[in-house]
Amino acid sequence: METIDESNITEMDKPMVEKPELPSASSKVDREDRATVGETMVDDPRMSCRDVNVYYGENHAIHDVNLDIGRNEVIAMIGPSGCGKSTFLRCLNRMNDTIDICRVTGSITLDDEDINHKKIDVVPLRAQVSMVFQKPNPFPKSIYENVAFGPRIHGLADKKADLEEIVVTSLKKAGLWDEVKDRLDQPGTGLSGGQQQRLCIARTIAVGPEVILMDEPCSALDPIATAKIEDLIDELRQQYTICIVTHSMQQAARVSQRTAYFHLGDLIEVGDTDRIFTNPRHKLTEDYITGRFG
Ligand SMILES: Nc1ncnc2c1ncn2[C@@H]1O[C@H](COP(=O)(O)OP(=O)(O)OP(=O)(O)O)[C@@H](O)[C@H]1O
Ligand SMILES: [Mg+2]
Repeated sequence: METIDESNITEMDKPMVEKPELPSASSKVDREDRATVGETMVDDPRMSCRDVNVYYGENHAIHDVNLDIGRNEVIAMIGPSGCGKSTFLRCLNRMNDTIDICRVTGSITLDDEDINHKKIDVVPLRAQVSMVFQKPNPFPKSIYENVAFGPRIHGLADKKADLEEIVVTSLKKAGLWDEVKDRLDQPGTGLSGGQQQRLCIARTIAVGPEVILMDEPCSALDPIATAKIEDLIDELRQQYTICIVTHSMQQAARVSQRTAYFHLGDLIEVGDTDRIFTNPRHKLTEDYITGRFG
């Protein structure tokens, strides 16, 4: 199984520069200013979040977020550093459970099932709602084993031939097959950064996810490798729902159908990506996308 990426658990080390300079987050006027504008709901959502709050000890990191995630859509999460994008993303497959001081309240459903219910086993949940991290993190194993590992531990293939079929299909779907088919027994860590990231995507696909979470999946990649991942995201959308956190507004505009703008733990605005980037309704969104903030 995936382990949490170090870059996600060392955020405490970053200085929290913005929060103290802004007006009190508890004042009523501030909260009204930061109520979500736009279309938070969709018909027939795959996931639904209602009144989601996240706390790290005393730090209230996510405030009353309401958001639906539609089927076969790519939704981009954007906003300045420290606004809670990764924190929110981690709520969607309970990855925040791995952080001791973290507490999540509110309701999050996947196909109408409460993912935080005590009867839910997080291991299959994290296969259904699977995470691709910022830094490609292949296992120190062969290319084949990187992809075969998940299906094997989840018991998805009884026979060797079935496992092989899953590995080949996943590598094809991740757009990596042609580049690796003659060296499946070589180490995954020997691939280029872009290939490693596609290997991690193949590994994710191999366990049969419904939703794929991507936290800045291209930030360690060059423009050519980034373009390949972006093309791949567009193809994967036919079969999966994808939530992508990105610092690149151009990337959000290229790959997503809906965009959610976060600011200091509030979901400020959400709507069709074209509309958000051409006609933002909230001043904070406008400031961010025009480069006045963040
Ligand atoms: N593991 C953690 N322990 C304690 N606080 C955390 C942890 N991770 C994040 N935080 C805090 O939660 C808030 C939101 O952080 P988060 O990492 O979700 O922001 P982000 O929008 O993903 O930022 P970036 O764009 O820099 O990745 C910040 O105040 C951060 O310090
Ligand atoms: Mg982050």
